Amino acid sequence: MQLPGTDASADHPLGRQLLDVDTLGAGGIDLILAEAARIRAGAGTARGAALSGRIVVNLFYEVSTRTRVSFEIAARKLGAEVVNVSATGSSVEKGESLIDTVRTLEALGADALVVRHPHAGAPYLISRYFGGSVVNAGDGAHAHPTQALLDLLTMKERWGDLRGLRVAIVGDILHSRVARSTTIGLLLCGAEVRLCGPRALLPPAGWLDALPTGHRGGRVSQTVSLASALRDAHVIIALRMQVERQRGGLISGLSEFVGLYGLTRQRLLELAPDALLMAPGPVNEGVELAPDLVAAPNSLVTDQVRNGVRIRMAVLKLLLGKEL
Ligand code: CP
Repeated sequence: MQLPGTDASADHPLGRQLLDVDTLGAGGIDLILAEAARIRAGAGTARGAALSGRIVVNLFYEVSTRTRVSFEIAARKLGAEVVNVSATGSSVEKGESLIDTVRTLEALGADALVVRHPHAGAPYLISRYFGGSVVNAGDGAHAHPTQALLDLLTMKERWGDLRGLRVAIVGDILHSRVARSTTIGLLLCGAEVRLCGPRALLPPAGWLDALPTGHRGGRVSQTVSLASALRDAHVIIALRMQVERQRGGLISGLSEFVGLYGLTRQRLLELAPDALLMAPGPVNEGVELAPDLVAAPNSLVTDQVRNGVRIRMAVLKLLLGKEL
């Protein structure tokens, strides 16, 4: 099956790469979510052999816990061999370029590179020099497609059809690759997305207009008003304040952010008592979320983490797997 905007081949329905969700379209997203649901249901008893003989390299130039570990678990569950390479401890520290590193890993036999990089676009560059599959595991403030897909899966498990679902994404939108990819995924699935944060941390004018809205009625808006964003929301996604990506005093201080946008039990009771809570993590406890909220009864954070393995299994299987 050839999906719009992908370089799909007969062997690999998604094509060779997963660089962001925009190229997947609604059909590609549906395909991955359906495969992840099959994996969750335990379908395909031979799935442990789907990637047998394949080598998946986690190439991480930036720190990670959830994404790196879940890709490793996912690849191992599918029978692949996994090698972890981080910038620290590799020849990158001796000055080796990104392209030379990639060529070296290909010559060593890597079939897939799972790439996290602090610079937007790095996985796209890599895909031009690497003959196997490239999966973007987060590039700068640009994209984090597997996070978006696991977010969509977590919502789909609760609400089924995502058309008309009201989702408030709160916090540091400007620096968040999760906000961008998850917003695109939600729009393609027909949800209503409300981006909310301090004006300096909202995207510039024109950003919303450039997002692909798809054909399922997806809508997006942005506001500085937490009350407006949360009104009647089905789900709230609390973004991590990306302290490491703040440039030159965009916000006057964390305490002001916490006072206006930090989510607490009391604030949620007042503004969105029925909403469920999500967060991509890691969480700055006491900043975007009060410490007691991650494990609160209305939190889906643990579901998100569990779904990370299922989504990454689905992606690796669809990109690399043999039909069993
Ligand atoms: N959500 C996310 O990408 O978490 P990690 O940085 O721990 O991978």
